[in-house]
Amino acid sequence: MSADTPATGDAPAARTDGPAGAGAGAEPAAPVLPGTDAPIADGELVVLTDRKGRRYLVTLRSGDEWHSHGGLVAHDEIIGSPEGVSVHTSKGMEVTALRPTRDEFVLKMKRGAQVVYTKDQAMIVALGDVRPGCTVVEAGAGSGALTLALLAAVGESGQVVSFEHREDHARIARRNVTRFHGGEPTNWELVVDDVTAALSTRTAHRVVLDLLEPWDVVAATAEALPPGGIVVAYTPGVPQVMRFTDTLWADGRFTDVRTSETLVRPWDVDGLAVRPAHRMVAHTAFLTTARRVPRRADGGPARRRRKADTGGSVDWGATDDLRVAGS
Ligand SMILES: C[S@@+](CC[C@H](N)C(=O)[O-])C[C@H]1O[C@@H](n2cnc3c(N)ncnc32)[C@H](O)[C@@H]1O
Repeated sequence: MSADTPATGDAPAARTDGPAGAGAGAEPAAPVLPGTDAPIADGELVVLTDRKGRRYLVTLRSGDEWHSHGGLVAHDEIIGSPEGVSVHTSKGMEVTALRPTRDEFVLKMKRGAQVVYTKDQAMIVALGDVRPGCTVVEAGAGSGALTLALLAAVGESGQVVSFEHREDHARIARRNVTRFHGGEPTNWELVVDDVTAALSTRTAHRVVLDLLEPWDVVAATAEALPPGGIVVAYTPGVPQVMRFTDTLWADGRFTDVRTSETLVRPWDVDGLAVRPAHRMVAHTAFLTTARRVPRRADGGPARRRRKADTGGSVDWGATDDLRVAGS
């Protein structure tokens, strides 16, 4: 019996995805791309959506039941059906079963650290020019949400190496990535270690940083990236952007340092009532990108400044206070 709830959105406590926890003995099924003719199989992950739009992530096991406040559904009613099948609970509530998209999976999966959502994942892949065949090093892995997007972007010919220094977060990232892929991807390496020292021993086409103090990793990033390589940092705060940007320019091996923010505004479309949704996720973080260039004898590329700028530099010093030195 299972009882997924929208609050946790995850498999119930008594259920694990591995054979050890599978009451009916089914192995987790290899995921099938949403949108094929293949009927939904025993062991597959589906997202059940009720009429209010509430979603529940469920791993199907023959013989199991899904329980909610709106009644129960036998998993066997869904297994063998085409994707998109609608079934009724014992209390008459209709739910629709679809294979989850990555976005749906990330919204419902178990979390340790705060995740990078789809709007920023998409821009990290686009601005970082992460494409099939790329080797990407990311830090930290957190809950593995961004890892899933990077794995999709590099494809089977590419590789993702994820650093995570917290064992508990690494466990959650491994579980999420494995659950979504129906097994651990062979082109993914999860390194449970501090990235600061380890990064310089790696070579990557792209480095993606989602950690509190990315400036600590700038020198190691320059070691890991050959000229032309790209670093992308996801940082929630303005002081982080300033310090990361300053550190990139000061290193002398980066150019084209740019920062942007992505806002996505959903709209409600219902007959003649068409308007922006009352709620939107506004600020999440800034994305700062830079290109690696060879170190030059004159210290590196000059930072371009607007005429109106004071040209003041920030002494980051031993404290984290912003102290503007000179102009
Ligand atoms: C905000 S989370 C990353 C979330 C992740 N991008 C996702 O989408 O699920 C930041 C993670 O970086 C890890 N971290 C911070 N500093 C690190 C370091 N120096 N080396 C490795 N991991 C680090 C933290 O433990 C945390 O799990």
